[in-house]
Amino acid sequence: MNSTIDSLNTRSSTRVFVPDSVSAAEREAILHSTMRAPTGGNMMLYSIIEIEDPALKARLAITCDDQPFIATAPWVLVFVADFQKWIDLFAVAGVDRVEGVEHRMTPGSGDLMLACSDALIAAQNAVVAAESLGIGSCYIGDILENGEEHARLLNLPQHTFPVGMLVLGRRAKERPPTPHYTGNMVHRDGYHRLNMAERLVAMEELAAMHAPHGFKLGIENHAQAVYARKYSTDFMREMNRSVAWWLERWETAENAGENA
Ligand SMILES: Cc1cc2nc3c(=O)[nH]c(=O)nc-3n(C[C@H](O)[C@H](O)[C@H](O)COP(=O)(O)O)c2cc1C
Repeated sequence: MNSTIDSLNTRSSTRVFVPDSVSAAEREAILHSTMRAPTGGNMMLYSIIEIEDPALKARLAITCDDQPFIATAPWVLVFVADFQKWIDLFAVAGVDRVEGVEHRMTPGSGDLMLACSDALIAAQNAVVAAESLGIGSCYIGDILENGEEHARLLNLPQHTFPVGMLVLGRRAKERPPTPHYTGNMVHRDGYHRLNMAERLVAMEELAAMHAPHGFKLGIENHAQAVYARKYSTDFMREMNRSVAWWLERWETAENAGENA
């Protein structure tokens, strides 16, 4: 249809990289387009941490569920939902002199969700911009794990949350687009929960799409495979524990000293 749509349709995640394959000019162009992403209230509720220190990259490869390719990525970006920047500006701006508003200094869950949206929308701009330059990428959701260590390693204050990480670089070998199951994705005028017959059709269609990966170790169907390999896993247990820690940290008044 056009080059943007072609690029979106042919992208697949890149995990094997040509070393040193993103130039300074490309980084600058990608970051510029990243920061052109839509942002709630034009507040730019995120920060981007470039991981340059090889030791830090190597540590993140371990703390993000032992994924060694992270350490080999030419460029690593952590997308941080960031309300701290505004809380810190409010602290010097004399917001207490503003009349006619209900005063608050602790951001809530809604502020966090908005900041997460901002950060991830910006990250996807980075993916699209990189792809347009022939640079591949892969999200690393496991940055949500090991909150205590990631907060320390990345020096993250209370009202920040590393919601996503991207590894980027030119792909060492071409990869066809990954099949995505698009059945039942778009609903009209409200949520449609699948009935039993529709679920069985979806199971068959998913099996037809993903069965080439094989059902090993007594796994009988795709939903069992997702359950065993994605949902009911140690990494998801850790992610759920860690995110609960981040949420408590975000909302706990005792941590407010960190805002000084
Ligand atoms: C939120 C999110 C987290 C992800 N985390 C990881 C990850 O930790 N490791 C990894 O290899 N791929 C990760 N991916 C990439 C997905 O596995 C990939 O997008 C999916 O399998 C579809 O393949 P495609 O990107 O090639 O279309 C993640 C993707 C998203 C959107």
